[in-house]
Amino acid sequence: MLGYGRVLVRGRGSWLWDSEGRSYLDALAGYGTFNLGHNHPRLLERLREVLAADPVHFVHTGPALGAGALGQALAGRVAPPLELTLLSSSGAEAVEAGLKVACAATRRREVVYCQGGFHGTNLGVLSIMGAPRMRRPFEAMLAPARAVPFGALEPLERALRGRKVAAFVVEPVQAEGGVMLPPPGYLAAAQELCRRAGTVLVLDEVQTGLGRTGTLWAYQQEGLVPDVLVLAKALSGGVVPVAATLLSRELHDRAYGGMDRFDLHGSTFAGGALACAAACATLELVDDEGLAERSRTLGARLLQALTRGLAGHPLVKAVRGRGLLVGIELGHTERGLRGLMTRALVDGLSERVFGQWLALELLERGVLAQPAALRWNVLKLEPPLIVDEAEVDQLARVVVEALEVCREPARMMAAIARRVGRQWRQGWAY
Ligand SMILES: Cc1ncc(COP(=O)(O)O)c(C=O)c1O
Repeated sequence: MLGYGRVLVRGRGSWLWDSEGRSYLDALAGYGTFNLGHNHPRLLERLREVLAADPVHFVHTGPALGAGALGQALAGRVAPPLELTLLSSSGAEAVEAGLKVACAATRRREVVYCQGGFHGTNLGVLSIMGAPRMRRPFEAMLAPARAVPFGALEPLERALRGRKVAAFVVEPVQAEGGVMLPPPGYLAAAQELCRRAGTVLVLDEVQTGLGRTGTLWAYQQEGLVPDVLVLAKALSGGVVPVAATLLSRELHDRAYGGMDRFDLHGSTFAGGALACAAACATLELVDDEGLAERSRTLGARLLQALTRGLAGHPLVKAVRGRGLLVGIELGHTERGLRGLMTRALVDGLSERVFGQWLALELLERGVLAQPAALRWNVLKLEPPLIVDEAEVDQLARVVVEALEVCREPARMMAAIARRVGRQWRQGWAY
């Protein structure tokens, strides 16, 4: 609706093209999937080599070469005691694998998660969906689960009391929850609480992994090594679905050791030759091209340019981020729109309209971006980590320019009215 529809037909590096030949700087990157950009030549080359060698794509009766290589590549890039990898094909599956391990190892069923957390939309992970709107149509849920506020230790401590909780699932930065950063020391302290309660800490790095926040894994900035680390999205290089759940051998054996338990977890399409080759090549490319470091420096550049360009903007409540994962929170501020609109109206409009409206303004200026899935008043910017300085500057300039329109309430209302009017004349067709 409102003219958003575009048929994207081609991608290369940080750029996408639509069926009418228009180009877009990709500031969405498949919600953090295209850290390498689109169709990285070395990645494609590796996949062609794999295909040319007549590989055995899936081996279900013994070790598969590709899966072994990926397990080894991952183990070499995480801290002990993380060592083993369970492979799957999507983020939701990989989080569920973590939940299952925790339940199987602790012989408990309950799960604690964070308000505002996002772990996918499969029925299993909907039990830990941090937005009631997304969960409610499917209740009652599969797992007994309880939400606690993100970043708060006392409610977590209370939730873990009684030693009945198998897993605490948390993201290092809540991406779809609105690019929410935890207070310093939160994750390490949460792990300590989990240890005392015999609970497994499952860290969901589906969106923050592979350099997105300025280090290869976001946990490296938090002074802990999670009990379970979940990866997906960018691990695929953006071409073949692959996801991973990393854990210690001790936790694995507690969960699945022994003849009566060894086959409790599996999936036909886990660990295929192409998927594993794509993931191995991606890990190498992230290292070789220094993408985590690029994310840190270019993320700081983007944040600085946006903070400067949006200073004093009457609708911008906050600009925050880590690495190339940046959020612009829209809503009521003390600086403007007072008198014209009430706080409730501005916040209500922000939650429902402004993020999407802004995404549309950006699209028309040649930038692809989206609001956070669970907080539509936060515009998320997460370009491929291969962007260069000029592209980052261009992104900041276009965002500031698009938001200029709503520095003045009257101009903004006119712009929205024009767009909605056009849609109305088309009979709300899309
Ligand atoms: C943090 C996080 N976890 C899990 C998922 C689910 O991944 P998938 O869509 O591959 O199931 C997402 C997807 O956006 C995510 O951002």
